[in-house]
Amino acid sequence: MVALGCDHGGFELMQEVIHYLDEKKIPYRNFGTFDTKSTDYPTYARKVVNSILSGESEKGILICGTGIGISITANRYKGIRAALCSDCFSAQATREHNDANILAMGGRVLGPGLAVKIVDTFLNTPFSEGERHKRRIEMIDEV
Ligand code: RB5
Repeated sequence: MVALGCDHGGFELMQEVIHYLDEKKIPYRNFGTFDTKSTDYPTYARKVVNSILSGESEKGILICGTGIGISITANRYKGIRAALCSDCFSAQATREHNDANILAMGGRVLGPGLAVKIVDTFLNTPFSEGERHKRRIEMIDEV
């Protein structure tokens, strides 16, 4: 299960992500926003975070205008590793090295073609399970 959240700045790109998930038959929960009316990105970051921390969702995708505000908010929560990605290399590396559980993107930064490839890479790349990566991830939660 993938939890989705965006603000007005991410709404249009999120429709592309939803189209991709529907095509691939990947289950998701959409926590909004549901239109382009101005709204506050922390609201949607929290909803996606809660869905992950409760065990309802395995991963999340968050989109605001830049991806910055919504990822900063998500990363305030222990156990959340939100990675702001604008390229496929980073999306692959953050799954392999950081076991990132949220992908953040900027709706005003990325075109739909690249964004969907980033989502595909993020959702299909497993954590490398390397001992050094596990140790570093544990150190994040000690902060
Ligand atoms: C909203 O205008 C914009 O500030 C928001 O989508 C995001 O880019 C914040 O980081």
